[in-house]
Amino acid sequence: MIDFFRRHLGAKLFLSYLVVILVGAIVLGLATRFTVPEAFNSHMGLGLGAGQGMMQGNGAGRGAMSDLFQSFQASFNEALLLALLAAGVVAILVSLLLSRSVLAPVRVLTTASQRIADGRYGERVQPVGSDELGQLARSFNQMAEKLEQVEAMRRQLIGDVSHELRTPLTAIKGSMEGLMDGVLPATSETYQQIHQEADRLARLVDDLQELSRVEAGAYPLDIRSVAVSMLIQTTVKRFAAQTQSKEIELRSDLPAGLPSVLADQDRLAQVLTNLVGNAVQYTPKGGQVTIQVNRHGDEIHISVIDTGIGIPAEHIPHLFTRFYRVDKSRSRQAGGGSGIGLTIARHLVEAHGGRIWAESAGEGQGSTFTFALPIPK
Ligand SMILES: Nc1ncnc2c1ncn2[C@@H]1O[C@H](COP(=O)(O)OP(=O)(O)O)[C@@H](O)[C@H]1O
Ligand SMILES: [Mg+2]
Repeated sequence: MIDFFRRHLGAKLFLSYLVVILVGAIVLGLATRFTVPEAFNSHMGLGLGAGQGMMQGNGAGRGAMSDLFQSFQASFNEALLLALLAAGVVAILVSLLLSRSVLAPVRVLTTASQRIADGRYGERVQPVGSDELGQLARSFNQMAEKLEQVEAMRRQLIGDVSHELRTPLTAIKGSMEGLMDGVLPATSETYQQIHQEADRLARLVDDLQELSRVEAGAYPLDIRSVAVSMLIQTTVKRFAAQTQSKEIELRSDLPAGLPSVLADQDRLAQVLTNLVGNAVQYTPKGGQVTIQVNRHGDEIHISVIDTGIGIPAEHIPHLFTRFYRVDKSRSRQAGGGSGIGLTIARHLVEAHGGRIWAESAGEGQGSTFTFALPIPK
């Protein structure tokens, strides 16, 4: 019985109405007991207190009056009982109606959330009204939408990753089969090709691991004061061999008196390495790459400018999305990665409270990648 009341909203509502009715009836009963005799007497024109009027009276007139009062009280009690019964019935009806109107949307939400738990993310409910239940329905829909997006992203990621893994694997398998069948000559060139593909696989796996780390924010930032010019000089040195072999001129353009920034030095170096690596990679022989630093108000802008292949305008908004490459086949031939580098860079810059963007006048016109970091006050 108690369990029934505990588990049904309608029963709880009814119980609360019943309590109100009972309290009302008790108050009414007490009030009549104590105030009605006096009022009765005064209305009957006796002008005496209740005790004197009724109880101590003698004589025929007084006796008749007392009978009258008693029958009045009996009929009053009867009426009170009837009113109680009527109120009880109304309480049942109202609690049924109210609980039904409250429970209907709750039931809809329960069913919908069970469907979502079963993986049907397209589930939505129709929000009715603007009360709390309507708000609940609306925020439920928002939650369902977010879940659906996350699920779509997860699917996309798995699709992309499998695709990225398949390409080098297919190449390795093809070469191995060629070797086994004697179609491919067992030269060092063949082995080098296979090694290159294996290398690409290893890099991809490393990138993916790094991406999942930065996307989850699961890495510590060792924030200290970092001298930007030092950072850039180190990066230039790191690329010396690569730029020399590709005959690319790598310069840095640093104004004097640059302020320091608060950042994780290794992470900033990672961003810069990504950008300079891309610039060197997508700039043909004989080109130039410049690292430029400027102060803009309370921000410091670090730009990597190249004279390379450039980027058509329609691709620019997507560059920082994972796996996005302007030209997949060309990027592959050019020894490019899998389109994760800029996504990692964006996450790292944003973790420092900065932003990153790309500019290019178009194909063959070179590109500029800039990230901005706040200057500490
Ligand atoms: N300096 C640049 N010049 C021209 N295109 C660039 C440059 N940097 C990046 N891109 C384009 O952006 C894409 C994504 O870059 P990134 O995330 O570093 O991936 P990838 O692994 O291909 O280098 C590249 O595939 C390339 O098409
Ligand atoms: Mg890259």
